[in-house]
Amino acid sequence: MTMSDTYDTPDTRDMLDRTRQGVIGKPLDRPEGPLKVSGQATYAAEYVRTDCAEGVLVGATISTGRVTKIHSDAVLAMPGVLGVYAAPQMLRRPAQGTAGEAPAQDPSRVDYPMQPVALVVAETFEQATAAAKALRIDYDDASAKARFMPTEDSAEAAADPVTAGDLDAALRDAAHVIDARFTTPGHASAAMEPHAAIAEWQGDDLTLWGSLQMIAFNVAELADSLGIDPKHVRILSPYVGGGFGSKLGISHEAVAAALVARELGRPVRVVMSRQQVFQSIMRRSETVQRIRLGAGADGRLTTFAHEALVSNLPEESFSEPVTQASEFLYAGDNRLLAVRKSDITRLTAGSVRAPGEAVGMQALEVAMDELAQALNLDPVELRRRNLPDTVPGQGTPYSSRRLVEAMEAGAAAFGWDQRNPQPCARREGEWWIGMGMSSAARVNILAKAEARVTLTADGHVVVETDHTDIGTGSYAIFGQIAAEMLGQPIERTTVRLGDSLLPAGSGSGGSWGASSTGSAVFYACEAIRATLAQALGCSADDLILQDGKAWAEGVDARPVTDLLTEDLTRTGKIEPGELMEKVNQSTYGAFFCEVAVNAFTGETRLRRMTGAFGFGRVLNAKTARSQCLGGMVWGIGSALTEDLSFDARDGHLVNHDLAEYHVPVHADIPPMEVILLEERDPHASPMQAKGVGELGICGAAGAIANAIHNACGVRLRDFPMTPDRLL
Ligand code: MOS
Repeated sequence: MTMSDTYDTPDTRDMLDRTRQGVIGKPLDRPEGPLKVSGQATYAAEYVRTDCAEGVLVGATISTGRVTKIHSDAVLAMPGVLGVYAAPQMLRRPAQGTAGEAPAQDPSRVDYPMQPVALVVAETFEQATAAAKALRIDYDDASAKARFMPTEDSAEAAADPVTAGDLDAALRDAAHVIDARFTTPGHASAAMEPHAAIAEWQGDDLTLWGSLQMIAFNVAELADSLGIDPKHVRILSPYVGGGFGSKLGISHEAVAAALVARELGRPVRVVMSRQQVFQSIMRRSETVQRIRLGAGADGRLTTFAHEALVSNLPEESFSEPVTQASEFLYAGDNRLLAVRKSDITRLTAGSVRAPGEAVGMQALEVAMDELAQALNLDPVELRRRNLPDTVPGQGTPYSSRRLVEAMEAGAAAFGWDQRNPQPCARREGEWWIGMGMSSAARVNILAKAEARVTLTADGHVVVETDHTDIGTGSYAIFGQIAAEMLGQPIERTTVRLGDSLLPAGSGSGGSWGASSTGSAVFYACEAIRATLAQALGCSADDLILQDGKAWAEGVDARPVTDLLTEDLTRTGKIEPGELMEKVNQSTYGAFFCEVAVNAFTGETRLRRMTGAFGFGRVLNAKTARSQCLGGMVWGIGSALTEDLSFDARDGHLVNHDLAEYHVPVHADIPPMEVILLEERDPHASPMQAKGVGELGICGAAGAIANAIHNACGVRLRDFPMTPDRLL
C-alpha cells in the first residue's frame, strides 16, 4: 500500500461512501461518556502518586518590574513546608508554536500582574496554600512606566496587510457606505477543568500527568523548558476538561511541577486555582475594529475594509487574527485588511475559541446587517449577492462552500419569512421582539498527524495515537472511522488517546483534530485493508468488509479472522501539502435567532436560535451537533455577557472567576436547533471532512446583535450588549 504522506491532491475516491459498516457519521454516544459522568475518568489532578508533594504557585503583586528578594525563611519554618522555589523557566508562559525558540529571559522579570514567580511546596495542599499566602516578596516596581491600555499610537504597523484597488475612490463612488467602529472585550477561555499537573521522575525520565491539548508539541515545549531531550519526557492526558485554547501550550503548573519534582526527588502536584487560571494562563485580546463597506445600488460590494487594533505583551508575536474570514468571505475589489498590535502590560494574549473569526465575524456580520438595512435588502439576499467566485485579490478557487444552502436551510427551519424588517415592529407586554441572522465562516486547517491501528487476530480493532479528547468526541470519532473502514462492529473497537508514547496525532486545536488525526486513522486502516485484500485474493478497491466478514464480487465471504494469523498493525500518516494554498478550504454556516429585549430593564433574552452548517463529511452527527451547540452558546456569551475587565491603572484582571466573568448558564439557553448539511470536500482530507469544532461560534454573536436591533431599533457596536448599554 503506497499512500502519500503529503496531502496535495484532492481525494475523490469517496472511500467512506462505499464502505458497508454504516457506522461513520452516526450519532453514536461517546464511549468515555459514562466514565466522565460517573467520576471514573481520571483527570490530571486526580492521579494518586505515592509521596506526592503539593505545590502552590505565587503570583507577583506588582504589574511589571523585577523580583529582588523572596523571603523564604519565614515560610520554610511553617508546618509541612518542603521548599520555596523561584523557577526561572516558569516565569513566562511559553509562546505558542515557539518551542525551542523562546528568548532567554531574566529570571527575576515580572511581565504582567499576578505572573507566577514562585512555587511553595508542602506535604499537603492546605499547608502549601497557607505558606504561599504568607510568602513575602520584594520587588523593583517598574509599573509607573507601563502601559495598561491599548492605544492606536503605540500600535505597530500591520504585519501582513491585504490591500487592493483604490479604497478612497471606491468609497467615494459607492451608492451606500457603512463606516462603523466596533469593540469586543477580552475573553477568558473558561475551561471547566483548571490547569493541573503531576510530575514524577524515574532517574532521568519524567512522567507528567497534565491537562493539555497538543501532546507531541507539549512534550517538545516541556523538554525545552527543562533543557532535556524530549525522549526523556512522557506526558499523559487521556481526559481533558475543556481547553478552548488555554491548553494548547504548556503553562506554569507543568513546568513548575517538573522542575521542583526533579529538585525534591519526589512527585509534585501543582493545581491552579480558578483565579490563577484567569490571571496567568491566557486571554483573548480585546479588539477595536473599523469596518468600511461600500456597495452599489445593486447591493454588490465594491469596497471591503476591515481594520483591527489588538494587544499583547511586547515580546509576544501573537496578534488575534481578527480579519481571518474577511480575507475570503465576501466580495469587494477594493480592499484593506489590517491588524495592528499594541504592546501592553497584561497577561499573554493567545488563541481562545476560534481565534480571529469569533470576534472578527461578530463585528463584520453586524456591519453587513447595517448595509442590508441601508439598501433595504433582506440580509440573506445581501450575503447571497456578495459571494465571490474566487478569493478576492488572490484568484484562489474555493473547495466546497455551502453558505447559500446553509442560509436557505436555516431560514426555512427558523421561519425567517416571519421577520418584519422594520425595527420596533413587534411588542409583547414589556418585551420588544426581534429577529436577526448572520453568516458563519471559519478557515479549515489540515495538520500533520500519525495514528496506529491494530486488527487483532481475534477481530478487535485498537486505535492508538497521542491525540487528545478535550470534550469534543475524539474517542468516538476515531473508533467510528476504524470500525467503518475495517467492517467491524463498533463494540469491537477500542481507542487509546492522550499518551505521548503513542504515535503523534495532530493534537486538538484550531478545529483540525478530527479531520487530521482521523485521516491518519483512515490511512492506517487502508493499509490494513490492502493486506486483507491480498489474503483474500482480490484488489483493495474490490474488498468489502462488513460485520467482521470479508468478501468481493465473485469471492465468497469469509470471517476476517480467517485471513489473520496474527495481529495486524499499521500506521497511517498525513501531512498537509500545497493543496491548502491552492484551494481555499473553509467551513460555512448561518445563524438565525429571535430575541426579546425588555423595554424597561434593557435585558436581552434569547428566545430561540437555529444554526445550519456545512463542513464536509459529518463524522459523528451527535458530537458535531454538540460542537455547534457549544459554539452558539459561546456566541451568546460574547454577545451578551462575557467581558474580561482590566483595571486601567495597573493592568490587574478584576473579574477573575466564573462568578464575575459571566458565561451563559442553562437558564440563558433557549431551544436551539442545529442543521448539519451533507457535504463532501475532497480537497480537505481523504475522508472529505473538514473541521467543525469552532464554526458554531464564528458570527453567532452578530446574529444576536442584529436581532436586538430588529427588536428595539438600538444599533450597538460595543460588546457585550449588557442592559446598561441598551437603555
Ligand atoms: Mo483552539 S483556540 O485552537 O483550542
